[in-house]
Amino acid sequence: MPASPCSREQPGEPEPGGARGPALQMRGVRKVYGSGTNEVAALDGVDLTVGPTEILALVGPSGSGKTTLCSIAGGLLTPTSGTVVVGGSDISRYNSRQLTDFRRNAVGFVFQTVNLVSFLTARENLLVVDEIGPRTGRRARQRADQLLEELGLTGRAGNLPSALSGGERQRVAIGRALMNDPCLVLFDEPTSALDTHLGEQVVALIRQEMKARGTAAIIVTHDLRITHHADRVATIVDGRIADAGT
Ligand SMILES: Nc1ncnc2c1ncn2[C@@H]1O[C@H](COP(=O)(O)OP(=O)(O)OP(=O)(O)O)[C@@H](O)[C@H]1O
Ligand SMILES: [Mg+2]
Repeated sequence: MPASPCSREQPGEPEPGGARGPALQMRGVRKVYGSGTNEVAALDGVDLTVGPTEILALVGPSGSGKTTLCSIAGGLLTPTSGTVVVGGSDISRYNSRQLTDFRRNAVGFVFQTVNLVSFLTARENLLVVDEIGPRTGRRARQRADQLLEELGLTGRAGNLPSALSGGERQRVAIGRALMNDPCLVLFDEPTSALDTHLGEQVVALIRQEMKARGTAAIIVTHDLRITHHADRVATIVDGRIADAGT
């Protein structure tokens, strides 16, 4: 299996001189959906760098390309053109098998609609890893229990998602995204289903977990009250970074 581009032993490890390279570098990224008269350029020349431990909030109008950007950074979609380097590896050159390994090993995803598996408990949802089924190893179980504790969910570990509150479900999703020790976690409107107070709590928790691990994150949000938890706020308009927030 190819090495994870983000694994700590690989290029994400500190370089001589102490600095780790960026978690994400996008250069001239274009993404065109459809063809002919139905063509939509969702991304139209995106240049974006996210530092190795940086939390970047990404804001922009509906339809500006935020979800598309996250999907490309996470290897769920391939760009039409341009380069996407995650943890030092150019994933825009990866084939589908390499992208599967990349998603499994190097990135975490937390989406707006929490896609927990409804018939598995909170703990089992952490042990489920995309495309390979539940992990049953002792190390995976220990890691799941540690994350559940950090996220304040120990007492809820045996609950099905239907017996969890919205905030608890979102915390389970955060725990699942952290199971692989990714170097980049992509949050697409992680708080939009929560009320403002709960939303702020969840974002504060995201910040705490990312900073404790030195993990980079992109948080897409419409909620400007949440952006103060980010290190930087970038704005995307019509598929281009209108303000990198530097
Ligand atoms: N699978 C698809 N096929 C065709 N067009 C798409 C597809 N996905 C997105 N688009 C179009 O690409 C553009 C960017 O969409 P995207 O979902 O990335 O925006 P967004 O910023 O996440 O919007 P929102 O804030 O509403 O979630 C939009 O014009 C959208 O209609
Ligand atoms: Mg979106």
